Amino acid sequence: MDKIRIVGGNELRGSIPISGAKNAALPLMIASLLTDEVLTLENVPRLRDVGLLQRILSNHGVDYSLNGKRPGEDHLAGQTIHFRSERIVDIRAPYDLVSQMRASFWVIGPILARMGEAIISLPGGCSIGTRPVDFFIQGLETMGAQIDIDRGYVVAKAPNGLKGARVIFPRVSVGATHTIMMAATLAKGETIIENAAREPEVVDLANCLIAMGAKIEGAGTSEIRIQGVDRLHGATHRVLPDRIETGTYAMAVAMAGGDVLLEGASTDLLEAAIATLRASGVTITQMDNGIQVYRNGNGILPVDITTEPFPGFPTDLQAQFMALMTKAQGTSRITETIFENRFMHIAELARLGAHIHQDGQVATVTGVDRLIGAPVMATDLRASVSLVIAGLVAEGETTVSRVYHLDRGFERLEEKLSRCGAEIERIAGEGAR
Ligand code: UD1
Repeated sequence: MDKIRIVGGNELRGSIPISGAKNAALPLMIASLLTDEVLTLENVPRLRDVGLLQRILSNHGVDYSLNGKRPGEDHLAGQTIHFRSERIVDIRAPYDLVSQMRASFWVIGPILARMGEAIISLPGGCSIGTRPVDFFIQGLETMGAQIDIDRGYVVAKAPNGLKGARVIFPRVSVGATHTIMMAATLAKGETIIENAAREPEVVDLANCLIAMGAKIEGAGTSEIRIQGVDRLHGATHRVLPDRIETGTYAMAVAMAGGDVLLEGASTDLLEAAIATLRASGVTITQMDNGIQVYRNGNGILPVDITTEPFPGFPTDLQAQFMALMTKAQGTSRITETIFENRFMHIAELARLGAHIHQDGQVATVTGVDRLIGAPVMATDLRASVSLVIAGLVAEGETTVSRVYHLDRGFERLEEKLSRCGAEIERIAGEGAR
C-alpha cells in the first residue's frame, strides 16, 4: 500500500487550485437517478469516493461518460461527467458496496421516489462512530413509505408514490436532508423539512435539482419547502469549491508558515474556520481569484473550538485544527459534538510529540516547541490529512501509511503541497493500486 513521506521544515509559497467539493459531488451524482435525461456535472473532483460511486450508480443502471482533456487544460482542473439513468435496472444496493461508502445509502431517496421500491443495505459502522440511519427511515415513513429491515437491508416500498409531509429531524443531518429533499422532488404535494442541514452542499444540491425542474425554497435555512413535480429533466451543473479542502490547506499554511493563494476558494463557505484561523494569528484575504493565506514568522496562538453543524466550525476540519494547535503557544480545548469517536488522530499526533489529553468529547492540546517526525497511520479521511499537516513542521521524516483514506477525499494532495515547496512524496508500496 502507498505511503506519504514528508520531511518537515519548509514554508509553503505559491498557489493551490481548490477542487470541486467531494461532499457536493456525491449527492449531485446520486441526483442523476431522479431523471431519465442526462445530468452533466462540471468540476467533479478526481477522488476514490467519486470513482466508487460511479461504480455503484452503474450497478443501478446509470451510464456515465467523461469529457476528454481540453487544449491548455490544467491536469488539476475538475472533470466533466455526464450521467444518464434512462432506466433503473436494479433497485438493490448491496452490502459490499454501501459498506465501502456510507453516502451511497442516500440512493434510497431517489430510487424509492422514482421506482416505488428500494432495497438498500444498512451501511454498518465506520471508524468515526456508529452513524445510524434512523432519520432517513423516519423521514421516508412520514412520507408514506413502508419500511422493513430484512437481513441487514432496508426494504422500502411506496407503490403509489411518496406523499408530501412535514419531516422534522431530531438533530441536523446532512445526509438525511439531501435524501429527503431528493425524494420529495417527485412526491405528491408539499414536503417541509424542519431542522434541515444548512451546509453549502445542501444549497448546491438544491440548485441542481431546481435546474432539473424541481420546486424548492429555503435551502440554506433550517426549513426547506419542496413542491413535488411529476418528473425532472436533464441539466448542467457546476460543483461548488471544496470548503474542507480549502480549510485544510489554509491550516497547512498556518502550520508551516508562508503565503499561498487557494485558487477558486471563497471565504463565504467557511467563515467560522476563517475567523478561528485569524484568531490564531493567520492573515486571510479574499481576492478576486481565491483566498490568500499568509503567516509570517510569528507564533500560532491557541484558540478553543467546538464543532457544530454549518455555519459553525465543521467537524471535517477538527483533526486538521488540532494538528495546528499542537504547535500553538499555549493550551486550547477542542470539543467534538457531531461524531462520538472522532479523536483517533490524537494517538497518532502523540507519536510526533504532541501533548493532547482527551476527556470524552473534549481534547485539551498543550502546544509544544517541536514535533519530531515518525511513522504514523491514517485512521480516517480527515484524520489522515491532520498527520500530513503535522508532518510539514515535524523535524526529520514522517511517513503516513494507509493513505487510501486520503485518496478518498483529497485530490493529488502531495502534488498540490510540493508545488508550494513542501518536501512531500508518495511512495508506492507493495500491492499499490
Ligand atoms: C456528512 C459529510 C461528512 C460530515 C458530516 C457532518 C458527506 C458525504 N459527508 O456526513 O463529511 O462529517 O456530514 O458535517 O457529505 N445521525 C443520526 N441518525 C441519522 C443520521 C445522522 O443519528 O439517521 C447523526 C450522525 O450519527 C451524526 C450526526 O447525526 O452524529 C450528523 O451526521 P450527518 O450530518 O448525517 O453526517 P453525514 O451526512 O453522514
